Amino acid sequence: MVIYGATGDLTKRKLLPALANLAREGLLSQQFAIVGFAFDQMNTQTFREKLTEDVKELSSETFDTALWQWFLERIYYIQGDFSDNAAYQRLKEQIAAADKSHGTQGNLFHYLAVAPKFFSPIVGKLGEAGLTQESNGRWVRVIVEKPFGHDLESAIQLNRDLKEILSERQIYRIDHYLGKETVQNVLVFRFANPIIEPLWNRTYIDHVQITAAETVGVEHRGAFYETAGALRDMVPNHLFQLLTLTAMEPPISFEADAVRDKQAEILHAIQVLTPEEVLQNTVRGQYGEGLINGERVNAYRNEPNVSPTSNTETFVALKLKIDNWRWGDVPFYLRTGKSLCHRVTEIAIRFRRTPFTLFRRSPIRDPRTNQLVIHIQPDEGISLRFGAKIPGSVMKLGLVNMDFDYARDFGTSHSTGYERLLYDCMIGDATLFQRADMVEAAWSVIQPVIDVWKALPARGFPNYAAGSWGPLEADDLLERDGRAWRDILAEETGAKCPVATSPAVTAAKAT
Ligand code: BG6
Repeated sequence: MVIYGATGDLTKRKLLPALANLAREGLLSQQFAIVGFAFDQMNTQTFREKLTEDVKELSSETFDTALWQWFLERIYYIQGDFSDNAAYQRLKEQIAAADKSHGTQGNLFHYLAVAPKFFSPIVGKLGEAGLTQESNGRWVRVIVEKPFGHDLESAIQLNRDLKEILSERQIYRIDHYLGKETVQNVLVFRFANPIIEPLWNRTYIDHVQITAAETVGVEHRGAFYETAGALRDMVPNHLFQLLTLTAMEPPISFEADAVRDKQAEILHAIQVLTPEEVLQNTVRGQYGEGLINGERVNAYRNEPNVSPTSNTETFVALKLKIDNWRWGDVPFYLRTGKSLCHRVTEIAIRFRRTPFTLFRRSPIRDPRTNQLVIHIQPDEGISLRFGAKIPGSVMKLGLVNMDFDYARDFGTSHSTGYERLLYDCMIGDATLFQRADMVEAAWSVIQPVIDVWKALPARGFPNYAAGSWGPLEADDLLERDGRAWRDILAEETGAKCPVATSPAVTAAKAT
């Protein structure tokens, strides 16, 4: 495994812990070695020391000396500039030496844990150095981190660049959401349980809500975020994974292309918004200052490396329609944002209501009782809500849940979410990685939104207070259709979001 940008955070926080977990599970080959390649002035010795400190810092209680010793003996470092041919020659020699010492049989995967501007140049150099060639049954694969392009055109160009050197089956475009157990479980839930499929369509489902809410702001990533924004950062990748897994037709097998064909079909079936529809069916927001968990937090414009007049969105809500027989007229509402009231990612399926006649004379107001929530994080599980009669001499309806809780039913795990993805790459299973056509199809859906938003820069930012559920317009998006976002905090904990409307909103309206 060659890690580009090996001195960065990803190696420390995700890759090494994930490799250690794989080794513990007996899923890492004994014939394994890691070569780190980065610009920082280090050598193998100092790199090993740095990683030892990192690992100890992150796993002080669970530190496994014997296992770490095994890793240390197979970790190497090459210092170099990603544009320097000589560095790739040194890298090539180091790979050959590691191959010999650890018997890796010429099999190789390159992990690009670098800024996106380096993806094409690095792969180009690897091609020139002969480090992408597969021969005599040896495999070479390349894992590319997100973001994969920043719009449709750049994604197409990046695909073109990579495919000049690599074949599609060598390219593993990672989306870490697909490493989450709960995300993978959407497929199992839908296709291993025969009672679900008959309900999973427009006859029974009223609409779907997908939420990925974060309480953190942009933290130290202001410079990157200014060029991205919530739409690019979360929607064509993470939220569309959740959407396609929820909406796809059953594949004929769990083979990579069988699954990905069905996901791609959904992406192609999403109705592309006209400029007029972009204005009606999308909402953008940016957080002003506010209160999260009792603490005052900064407005986005006051975050480090963010312009004080920034118009970058930190919140987005969208209404999308999937134009096929299963989902015709079933809207999919998506929302994601930073500095929101509650950290939660979930898919909520709202079922249609029963005919009302039966309950007309009772105090029951809204018999839209059934709701299935797939809790992606942090409280992983699935719950199904239904109506029940509250004991008593008048007909009163209560709402109750049947719950599946991962931690309670299966125990907790220390998974980083990268284990399965690394393992799959090593065994050559690309099911959980993005194919070129999927990435391009996802950007095609988003591109009209990018265009309209660019042509009409947001006015009145900031428009939601940190610690709220986002701008009021996001509520209007559903209210217009006679619907409402699930009040997640209230339904899960009984608490109300303490921040309703922000001073920023009031100020923006006053001007
Ligand atoms: C990343 C985004 O891809 O996903 C971040 O760039 C976001 O902005 C993160 O915070 C969310 O991932 P998770 O696993 O914490 O939900």
